[in-house]
Amino acid sequence: MVDQTAGAQGETRRDFLYVATGAVAGVGALATLWPLIDQMNPAEDVLALSTTEVDLSQVPLGQQIIVSWRSKPVFIRHRTEEDIAEAEAVPLEELKDPETDADRVINPEWLIMVGICTHLGCIPLADQGEYDGWFCPCHGSHYDTSGRIRKGPAPLNLTVPTYEFLDDTTVRIG
Ligand code: FES
Repeated sequence: MVDQTAGAQGETRRDFLYVATGAVAGVGALATLWPLIDQMNPAEDVLALSTTEVDLSQVPLGQQIIVSWRSKPVFIRHRTEEDIAEAEAVPLEELKDPETDADRVINPEWLIMVGICTHLGCIPLADQGEYDGWFCPCHGSHYDTSGRIRKGPAPLNLTVPTYEFLDDTTVRIG
């Protein structure tokens, strides 16, 4: 299931450094919701309402891009059939934070996650670690091809943000 509450924690400023270029189609606030902002802290609300639209047609199979959403890095992985099969084959009882792969994706070909380690907030590295997914070098957390924590001190899977597909090649995060 897509986590509707994702992205509220672990925010850092340094994550700007990790955002890849060429993938962000646009970031916009929903103008119709602006009246609500008067009741709350403006800076927080601008962040809360922002969305990011991404053109997926530029992401080759087996590759990952990183886009910025609410000042956080978001990994968008174009998964291969092997990636998907590996993720789906993992028994839930082997998982520290049990979630099926199907709970973490809308379209299995696309894995979309906040790229912040759930231990202390470092940015995990793609295509590294013991489970063919991501590895956080700060303290040695290994994530699998579904972004689930498999080994190391991180307590939770990488967070899946709220998102939707606008068409076959466009996703809106937030
Ligand atoms: S911050 Fe990732 S393992 Fe500690």
